[in-house]
Amino acid sequence: MKSSVGFILFLSFHLFLSLPYPSLSAHAKCNAHDKQVLLEIKAAFNNPYHLASWNPDVDCCGWYALDCDRNTGRVIALTIFAGNISGEIPPAVGDLPYLQNLMFHKLTNLTGQIPSAVTKLVHLRELTISWTNLSGPVPSFLSQLKNLTSLDLSFNDLTGSIPPSLSELPNLLDLHLDRNKLTGSIPDSFGRFAGNSPDLFLSHNMLSGPVPKSLGNVNFSIQIDFSRNKLEGDASFLFGKNKTIQFVDLSRNLFEFDLSKVEFPDSLTNLDLNHNKIFGSLPVGLTELNLQFFNVSYNRLCGQIPQGGKLQSFDSYNYFHNRCLCGAPLPACK
Ligand SMILES: *[C@@H]1O[C@H](CO)[C@@H](O)[C@H](O)[C@H]1NC(C)=O
Ligand SMILES: *[C@@H]1O[C@H](CO)[C@@H](O)[C@H](O)[C@H]1NC(C)=O
Ligand SMILES: *[C@@H]1O[C@H](CO)[C@@H](O)[C@H](O)[C@H]1NC(C)=O
Ligand SMILES: *[C@@H]1O[C@H](CO)[C@@H](O)[C@H](O)[C@H]1NC(C)=O
Ligand SMILES: *[C@@H]1O[C@H](CO)[C@@H](O)[C@H](O)[C@H]1NC(C)=O
Ligand SMILES: *[C@@H]1O[C@H](CO)[C@@H](O)[C@H](O)[C@H]1NC(C)=O
Ligand SMILES: *[C@@H]1O[C@H](CO)[C@@H](O)[C@H](O)[C@H]1NC(C)=O
Repeated sequence: MKSSVGFILFLSFHLFLSLPYPSLSAHAKCNAHDKQVLLEIKAAFNNPYHLASWNPDVDCCGWYALDCDRNTGRVIALTIFAGNISGEIPPAVGDLPYLQNLMFHKLTNLTGQIPSAVTKLVHLRELTISWTNLSGPVPSFLSQLKNLTSLDLSFNDLTGSIPPSLSELPNLLDLHLDRNKLTGSIPDSFGRFAGNSPDLFLSHNMLSGPVPKSLGNVNFSIQIDFSRNKLEGDASFLFGKNKTIQFVDLSRNLFEFDLSKVEFPDSLTNLDLNHNKIFGSLPVGLTELNLQFFNVSYNRLCGQIPQGGKLQSFDSYNYFHNRCLCGAPLPACK
């Protein structure tokens, strides 16, 4: 009995020596410089419970909220979310030179401004600072992060105007600046993005003035959301037969243009224009679209709602409060 237990122990010990842990053989160890920087970040946040796994005795590639490159052990992602983290984003985040993804999300006690140290992160592809209490401007220096494909600064307390320099980001696919307190107008440069034109999410701010005409030349790939601002004037040039956009939300602004002659792209599936000062009639072309959402309520539209397509699949609440729209689903025209 005794000897067989000894034999099994001997065998397991032997196996342990001869078979290295797959995890250790496949991953390089966390880079020592990056580890030091992470510990500085933890200290800057007052060693919060949320980062308790950031234990100096453990390889940092195994710490919570991190991702390392398997071959080099360099930290490539730092994604801190939904924790009790308070204080400001420490400039030390700029000292993780191989970061591709930096996220601070749902951290209501995170305050201060976006630190300029992030411009050192030349490999950054995704920057998310959302649902925090960060204040101050959307910094113009973010245009230095040429590799960014996604910039999400939504749900913060950011103020000031949108820096025109963001159009110098050649790889951007989405720009989320929604749910802040941004003022001023949409930059004219947003009609001339250096590369792709990103989908623009600018809703729930205090943006004002007309939408620059330059945006009429842009072929937005999927979506624009300008809702709940104080934008005014014409926006009809955002549409056009040859474009590929699917979702357009211009609701709750002060837009004022004639809808009668607008040609909508065949790709359009969701159109929200509610609460503006849009006039004219609904163009018959709308019956040719495969609409999933359509709301033109609270405008100054007139005339018969074209019959056909998807237009009668939306209830009267999507058409009500206009000057003299009529026909199904509203009461018949007189
Ligand atoms: C968050 O942290 C602060 C300071 O460390 C502490 O006073 C507070 O109780 C914590 N709140 C929660 C919900 O854990
Ligand atoms: C934010 O900090 C306050 C004060 O320390 C604390 O009461 C609260 O629980 C914190 N909020 C979160 C989401 O942790
Ligand atoms: C964070 O923002 C919320 C909502 O805007 C606010 O109620 C709260 O007091 C703020 N917290 C801090 C620490 O500033
Ligand atoms: C973008 O990233 C690539 C590879 O990660 C890197 O070689 C290049 O220098 C970066 N671009 C800039 C402008 O830093
Ligand atoms: C749509 O594209 C075609 C071919 O590229 C072009 O001939 C036509 O003028 C365009 N129509 C509009 C309204 O831009
Ligand atoms: C928009 O892009 C699509 C697909 O890339 C293309 O077919 C279309 O002609 C473009 N339209 C305009 C107005 O540039
Ligand atoms: C359309 O907008 C009006 C006004 O905001 C709103 O009452 C109605 O519920 C909306 N319809 C849908 C389907 O959201």
